[in-house]
Amino acid sequence: MHRQIIPFFLLLICGSVYPQYDYDYGVPDDYPSNLQFGPSSPNCAPECNCPYNYPSAMYCDNLKLKQIPMIPPGIQYLYLQNNMIEGIADDTFQNVTNLKWLILDHNHLSNANIKKGAFSKLKELQRLYISFNNLTELVGPLPKTMTDLYASNNKISKITPNILEGLENLTVVHLQHNALKEDSISGAFKGLKSLMYLDLSYNQLTKLPIGLPPTINFLYFDNNKIGNIPDEYFQGFKALQYLRLSHNDLKDAGVPGNAFNISTLIELDLSFNSLEKIPAVNEGLENLYLHVNKIKKFDLSSFCKVVGPLEYSRVRHLRLDGNNITRADIPQEIHNCLRMASDIEL
Ligand SMILES: *[C@@H]1O[C@H](CO)[C@@H](O)[C@H](O)[C@H]1NC(C)=O
Ligand SMILES: *[C@@H]1O[C@H](CO)[C@@H](O)[C@H](O)[C@H]1NC(C)=O
Ligand SMILES: *[C@@H]1O[C@H](CO)[C@@H](O)[C@H](O)[C@H]1NC(C)=O
Ligand SMILES: *[C@@H]1O[C@H](CO)[C@@H](O)[C@H](O)[C@H]1NC(C)=O
Ligand SMILES: *[C@@H]1O[C@H](CO)[C@@H](O)[C@H](O)[C@H]1NC(C)=O
Repeated sequence: MHRQIIPFFLLLICGSVYPQYDYDYGVPDDYPSNLQFGPSSPNCAPECNCPYNYPSAMYCDNLKLKQIPMIPPGIQYLYLQNNMIEGIADDTFQNVTNLKWLILDHNHLSNANIKKGAFSKLKELQRLYISFNNLTELVGPLPKTMTDLYASNNKISKITPNILEGLENLTVVHLQHNALKEDSISGAFKGLKSLMYLDLSYNQLTKLPIGLPPTINFLYFDNNKIGNIPDEYFQGFKALQYLRLSHNDLKDAGVPGNAFNISTLIELDLSFNSLEKIPAVNEGLENLYLHVNKIKKFDLSSFCKVVGPLEYSRVRHLRLDGNNITRADIPQEIHNCLRMASDIEL
């Protein structure tokens, strides 16, 4: 079937206010709260709520607790967010070794107060939420059943090598807003054969880490101090779709020619760097953010090496505001190459 592509083109020349755009980091603030439930079942911890119609859950959030309350057998989903819990004892989870979800966000946990084997005995744990605590190291070892690990907004500067080893189903890892340097994470994610989502934004990386699994789809490095991309670095990823590198120290000299020509990529954020040229990108890319760089030239060959019936750029949204580029710098032939562009901000 032959489908005609109708060029739909609109140059938005707007004095765009760049800091206004923000990401949705998918921080799960929307888990149900203690306060939403009626009477509790009798064997629940007295300060918590175990809803009759959801007997495997215990809600102990927002209670200013300093310790984890007693946990009756049968609980699989434990909500302890927004308290002042400082530690986890050896026997804390002795009744519930088949816990599936453990929510500990927004507490005062530090590594020194978490007993070594605290998590490893939870032989069915799938999700651990331990963001917004006082950790300086990633907790572990974690059970092999883990799928989601949320450990953002701590002070993590260290990931013990092999601490994540063998977590074959670990899919999502949030480590943004910590104090990680590349040396502390190199190799840490090796062999995680299900890893799809890795957020390392807001850390102290000056280089890209080595040994990331090729399965990753979402890779976030924004707000670090990364100055260069090793040759072929992203070509090692076989499914990379969303890549964020905004607010780093990237200059043209640190970006090899095809660094961002990654065939699977859909979205690339390079805003708030010091690039002077638009880097070459793949044909299938749909969103390209280059605002607040030092770009002086609009070079179509960054998008299209060749133009043909099927060879053209799929870019829809392109941000170039906050650069040294005006409408006069946009070449006439842009429509042949950027056929899908619905807005370009200058
Ligand atoms: C285990 O369950 C029993 C019975 O519900 C309870 O008395 C005890 O405190 C629980 N232990 C812990 C560590 O939560
Ligand atoms: C966090 O840990 C530091 C020491 O590492 C300690 O001084 C501070 O009081 C802790 N803060 C909380 C909220 O527990
Ligand atoms: C990983 O997930 C698969 C599919 O859900 C499951 O069969 C397997 O047991 C899991 N592995 C571990 C170590 O839990
Ligand atoms: C990106 O790489 C592909 C495959 O190597 C190549 O055909 C294409 O011309 C490159 N695109 C740009 C804009 O350099
Ligand atoms: C912006 O570009 C113009 C013309 O290309 C040049 O004269 C000017 O110096 C540039 N400004 C900066 C800040 O680079």
